[in-house]
Amino acid sequence: LNYLVEKDRRDIVKTLLTGLSRLEYRGYDSAGIAIDGESDTEVLLFKQVGKVAALRAKIDADKVLDMDKTFLNHVGMAHTRWATHGQPSERNSHPHRSDPKSEFTVVHNGIITNYKELRTLLEKKGYMFESDTDTECIAKLAKYVYDSQKGSKTITFTSLIKAVEGAFAMLLKSTHFPNEMIATRRGSPLLIGVKTAKKLKVDFVDVEFGAPEVTAGTDQPPVKRDQSRAFLSEDGMPQQIEYYLASDPSAIVEHTKRVLYLEDDDIAHIDDGDLHIHRLRRDDGNQSSFRTIQTLEMELAEIMKGSFDHFMQKEIYEQPESVVNTMRGRVNFEECKVTLGGLSKYLSTIRRCRRVVFIACGTSFHSCLATRAIFEELTEIPCQAELASDFLDRKTPIFRDDVCVFVSQSGETADTILALRYCLERGALCLGVTNTVGSSISRETQCGVHINAGPEIGVASTKAYTSQFIALLLMALQLSEDRISMTERRRQIINDLYELPRYIKETLAIDASLKQLAQEVLHKEKSLLIMGRGYQNATCLEAALKIKEVSYMHSEGILAGELKHGPLALIDENMPVILIMTKDSLYPKVQSALQQVTARKGHPIIICNKGDTNISAEYRTIRVPQAVDCLQGILTIIPLQLLSYHLACLNGVDVDFPRNLAKSVTVE
Ligand code: G6P
Repeated sequence: LNYLVEKDRRDIVKTLLTGLSRLEYRGYDSAGIAIDGESDTEVLLFKQVGKVAALRAKIDADKVLDMDKTFLNHVGMAHTRWATHGQPSERNSHPHRSDPKSEFTVVHNGIITNYKELRTLLEKKGYMFESDTDTECIAKLAKYVYDSQKGSKTITFTSLIKAVEGAFAMLLKSTHFPNEMIATRRGSPLLIGVKTAKKLKVDFVDVEFGAPEVTAGTDQPPVKRDQSRAFLSEDGMPQQIEYYLASDPSAIVEHTKRVLYLEDDDIAHIDDGDLHIHRLRRDDGNQSSFRTIQTLEMELAEIMKGSFDHFMQKEIYEQPESVVNTMRGRVNFEECKVTLGGLSKYLSTIRRCRRVVFIACGTSFHSCLATRAIFEELTEIPCQAELASDFLDRKTPIFRDDVCVFVSQSGETADTILALRYCLERGALCLGVTNTVGSSISRETQCGVHINAGPEIGVASTKAYTSQFIALLLMALQLSEDRISMTERRRQIINDLYELPRYIKETLAIDASLKQLAQEVLHKEKSLLIMGRGYQNATCLEAALKIKEVSYMHSEGILAGELKHGPLALIDENMPVILIMTKDSLYPKVQSALQQVTARKGHPIIICNKGDTNISAEYRTIRVPQAVDCLQGILTIIPLQLLSYHLACLNGVDVDFPRNLAKSVTVE
């Protein structure tokens, strides 16, 4: 939204489309924008199936649209979709409208669970629906309430927001209220970026709506206005202001770094350049009445590809630095001490707990599996790792003396958030381990650790996995610092944490041979089995997930101990197998797995340590540096991340946007 900032339509469209392309990793089966038309009462909608580039091409090809038209005030909205209700199609793309004149226009992220009831009601009132989406009922309902309340803005918005159930972040604009926007969230993220001229000081105070007041802003004095309601800077000159609303800071960081995160049930109303925040209910005792404007530390360069072909490749190569960023300021290598500031107040509660329950989805779940054994060993606290969806399906018993750790790169995965709320209700201490400051999980947990891996854009998670791994290990190290019997073990681990960036660089250096392996041996295969045990079990599962996600090849991670209980039936001379056989206490047992495979004419590729002379020259090997057993998983997953990347490229997959997947799954 821009106020007193003269812009031509070209500029406005460009801002919307660029913002959308930064969000494409969240969903990308179709996209759309709504912009102001020739007058205040006209809204123009453009929608297109496919990626944002397709929408851009469609708008570029429109010969009627006057791109030179200028606007002093303008409210636009845009959306990129990952289908939940209704096929990806133009008619199902957002923005959705209340009627052909677009009296109300809406974009929405999440799911409206009572949309069927709302739709039935509205259809009975004569509304004709144009799409199969849950979102459209919001726009239609807004018009219905507005018409029946004879145009009251306040009642329209409050009734509308009270009537919808489910998880959502939504933006709403109306030709009845030009230059205004309503934004609200419940369960899905939404933030507001504020861009003002250099000297303008802003303070936001809640007004109207009759709802409880919330003050949002900084400790700076309120903005002054002149009679024409233009904003005034310190020297009395009229000033300009722009607001950028988005579900993720990457969409807006190039315009402003000053952002305000909305809380659940906040209703933001931007009107003539002012921002007001309202609360729907007064009964939410825990809700702070302040919304602070934070300054983002993210640089645009951090979310750009640089010299790499794909974000996934860039993120794999960033790991020597991203693991250091996870440890930065937290590990004292000389004194063998780990300090995670976010946990300091809770250490004794955690040490006394009944058990630690790790809860996560996808790759984040694998980071929990990868570190569970060392967590148990160092802390002597029983640990279990749970997939969030299954945890909820089972209605797992949770007690007040449990510690629940929610691991999520985005901090916005719906299943993980629901599991978090379930555990909070049962009184457990809830910790978050996320990569996204200000995300739902970091805000709703009592304490936690940010993994600081930097933005991860590729849908397939790579550097977030290794940073989650390190963050969980650091937690175990901190919790065990008073255990004398663990002194030597802790020293060994902390020494290797120091060496880790060097080991990762050495591992990345074998990339060319992995590309060759993908080209010469694996790329035409239909299936790939990845086997290992102990600490390497998580690597096998994570590698198989990576391969499936980005190369579409079937792959399965197999616990080598289970081989004889079934998977051995798959082995013959044609079945491609990778066996992880690094030097740790289970090495002899993995050797017997190798024998079981070769006895069935299998011919595995072996991931082993540099300098391991036991492995016969007949096997193709992938050699990685040797680290302490509980860190070895970082060095075995990296070649498999690279391998999956090369397989994806060879198969012509759009690596950063594999079909049917989204980076952040904000629906159940
Ligand atoms: C999606 C992504 C995965 C990710 C999982 C959990 O399925 O495609 O890469 O591991 O969500 O996401 P989170 O943000 O909670 O770690």
